[in-house]
Amino acid sequence: MLGVCYYPEHWPSSCWADDARKMRALGLEWVRIAEFSWSRLEPESGRLEFDWLDTAIATLGAAGLRVVLGTPTATPPKWLIDQYPEILPVDPATGQVRGFGSRRHYDFSSQVYLREALRISELMARRYGNNPHVGGWQTDNELSCHDTTLSASRAARDAFRAWCRERYQDIDVLNRAWGNVFWSMEYQDFDAIELPVLAVTETSPAHRLAYRRFSSDQVIRFNEEMCRVIRQHSTNQFVTHNFIPPEQTGVDNTRLAATLDFASYDNYPLGHTDILLSTANTETLQRYQRTGLPDVAALRYDQIRGFSNKPFWVMEQQPGPVNWAPNNPRPAPGMVRVWTLEAFAHGADCVSYFRWRQAPFAQEQMHAGLLRPDSSEAPVCAEIRQALRDVSATGLTRQAMATADVAILISDEARWIDAIERQGSAYRHEDILWQYYGALRQLGLNVDIISPTAVLDDYRLLVVPALPLLSAELLAKLQACTATVVFGPRAGAKTEDFCIPQTLAPGRLQSLIDIRVLSVETLRADCHEPLHWQGSSYASTTWREEIASGAAVETLAFFADNTPAVVRQDRIIYLASLTCDAFLRDFLSNLCTELDLETLELPTDLRMRRRGNLNCVFNYANTIQTVPAPDDAEFILGKRQLPPGDIAIWRKQQEPTA
Ligand code: GAL
Repeated sequence: MLGVCYYPEHWPSSCWADDARKMRALGLEWVRIAEFSWSRLEPESGRLEFDWLDTAIATLGAAGLRVVLGTPTATPPKWLIDQYPEILPVDPATGQVRGFGSRRHYDFSSQVYLREALRISELMARRYGNNPHVGGWQTDNELSCHDTTLSASRAARDAFRAWCRERYQDIDVLNRAWGNVFWSMEYQDFDAIELPVLAVTETSPAHRLAYRRFSSDQVIRFNEEMCRVIRQHSTNQFVTHNFIPPEQTGVDNTRLAATLDFASYDNYPLGHTDILLSTANTETLQRYQRTGLPDVAALRYDQIRGFSNKPFWVMEQQPGPVNWAPNNPRPAPGMVRVWTLEAFAHGADCVSYFRWRQAPFAQEQMHAGLLRPDSSEAPVCAEIRQALRDVSATGLTRQAMATADVAILISDEARWIDAIERQGSAYRHEDILWQYYGALRQLGLNVDIISPTAVLDDYRLLVVPALPLLSAELLAKLQACTATVVFGPRAGAKTEDFCIPQTLAPGRLQSLIDIRVLSVETLRADCHEPLHWQGSSYASTTWREEIASGAAVETLAFFADNTPAVVRQDRIIYLASLTCDAFLRDFLSNLCTELDLETLELPTDLRMRRRGNLNCVFNYANTIQTVPAPDDAEFILGKRQLPPGDIAIWRKQQEPTA
C-alpha cells in the first residue's frame, strides 16, 4: 500500500476534494494528517474547532482514502506556552530554555504538558475513535527529534530525583553505584541529586547513564499514556509512531515500540547520506549523493522491523530534494521507486510519501512534494505509478516474511555507553553497526536487527558487534540458543552501573568463553596494524584488546606480535579488535560456509533482499551491474544486466510465486 502526508490546514478547503481525487488516481490508499494542527483545533484555551477536521476526514474518506490521524502534540500552541511556560525544555548543553517558534518545544517531564497532551489527544480520540475513515493513529511526531529527549529543566531534575529514589532506594547504594567517592561527589539525600549537566568537567559515567535511562523512561511513559487514551476511545484502529533513525532518539526504541501496534519510520535517504558523508572525499560523495548509500534505507528498514518483529510502515518517504541537510540533491531517476520497493522487500506494509504538495511558505518551502506548489505533478509521480505496477506484477507484498538466519544484536544502552565513554574518538557504535551490516549484506544475506529482548532461537548466526552491557537475561538466552555467536570487542565490558566487572571484561560472557581482557588501547582510525588470519594479512584498527585465554579457547587470528586477535570456544567467537572491511567479509563468509548458509558475492553497490521466494536486487551504482543469479533464474522484473537506479526481481526456476 502507498500513502501520503497531507496538511489540509495549509490549503483552502475548496481544494481538498480535488487533492483527494488526485491522490486516489495516483494509487494512494492512505493519508496521514493533523500532526501539527493544534493551533487550528484549539485556537485558544478551551475553544475547540474540530469542524474543519471533520470535513477534511469526510472529504478524504469520500474519495476512498483511509486516514492516519496524528495527535498534534509535537507542536503545543503559543497560548499554551504563555499559560504554562514551564512546558518548555531546557538545553542540557547550555542551560538555556528552548523557546517557542518551531516544534518539539516541550519537556517530557512536564506534568502540565503531559496533562495537556492527553487532553487534546483524548478529545480527538473521542471524536474520531470510531470514524470509519480513520484507520489508525500516529502518536505525536518523531518523538525525540531535534535532540529533545534530554532536558535540564527543574521538572526533569525533580523527576530524576524521584526516579533515582525508586531505583536505588538508599542513597548509599546510589553513591556506591555511581562511584561518588571518586571526586567527593557523594550525596546525603536523593533531594540533593543534580542532573549531570553543566559541570566543570566530566561527570560520573554511571550518573550520566542513569540520566539517559531516566530520560528514555520519560519518553516511553509519555508515549504509553498517549496510546492509552487513544485506545480507550478507539475501535479497530491501529496506533503507530514515526521513528527517526534509532540512534538519534536517545530512547530504548524497542520498549517505545512495545506499546504500538507496529513501528513506522521516516525515510530520508539522501538527507542522511549527505550528513553521513560530510567528511568523505568528493568522489564518494558524488557517487552516492543522488542514490543514497546502499544500506541507508535497508539498515533502517531492518532496524524498524526488528523493534516489534512485525511488518512496519514508512510513514514519510523522501520524494525529491529535502531542505534540512547541508546539501540537498535531487534523487537520481528511479531511486524513489527503488526505496519504495526495497521497503516492501524488507517487510513494509505501507510506504507513505512526504508530502503531497510542496508548501510555498514557512520552514519547508524548499522541500519537494509529490506536487509542486502550483499543483503540477513532480516527476516522482511517474515513479510511484511504476512502483505500484511492479508490486502488482510481482506479488512482492503478498510474499511471506520469514525470520532471517542471521541477526545483528544491538542495544540502545550500548549506544549510550559509547557516547558517555568514548575512550577512542574513532570507536563509534553506529560505524561498527554499519560496517558489520554492510559486510553481511554484501554476502547477499537477509539480516534481522534485534535487541537483547528478542527471541534468539531461530538464528544460526548471531553477530553482536558492540555490546558492553550484557544482562543476565541475555546471557541465559545465549546459553540456551544454538547460534554461532560473534562478539566484537568491548562485549560485556561494563556492569549495570558502568563499572569494569570484577573478573574483568567480558564479565558475564566468561561463562561462555574463557577469556579475560587484560588491557585496552585505542588508535586513530587511519593507524592500521596487521591482523593475520588463515595465511592472509588484514588490518586491525581503532580498538584493540590484550586477551588472556584458558585452555579451551582456540586462537583463530593474531595481531602482528603474535598475540590473539580473534578467539573461539565452541560456538562463541570473540574479536579483540575492530578490523578492516575485507577481514569481516572473508571471516563472516567463512563462517557462513561452516554453517551451511548460502552466500553470494555482490558487487559493491548492489543489494539483495529475499522475501518469500523472490530475490529483489537494487542497483545503487551509477553503472550497469550484473545480477549474480543462477543461469536459469527467472527474472520477473528487470533483467540480469541491471541499469543504475533499477530493480530486478528473480526467482529460482522451480519456485512459484505466492
Ligand atoms: C520529518 C518530519 C516532517 C518534515 C520532514 C521533512 O523529520 O517528521 O514533519 O519536517 O522531516 O523532511
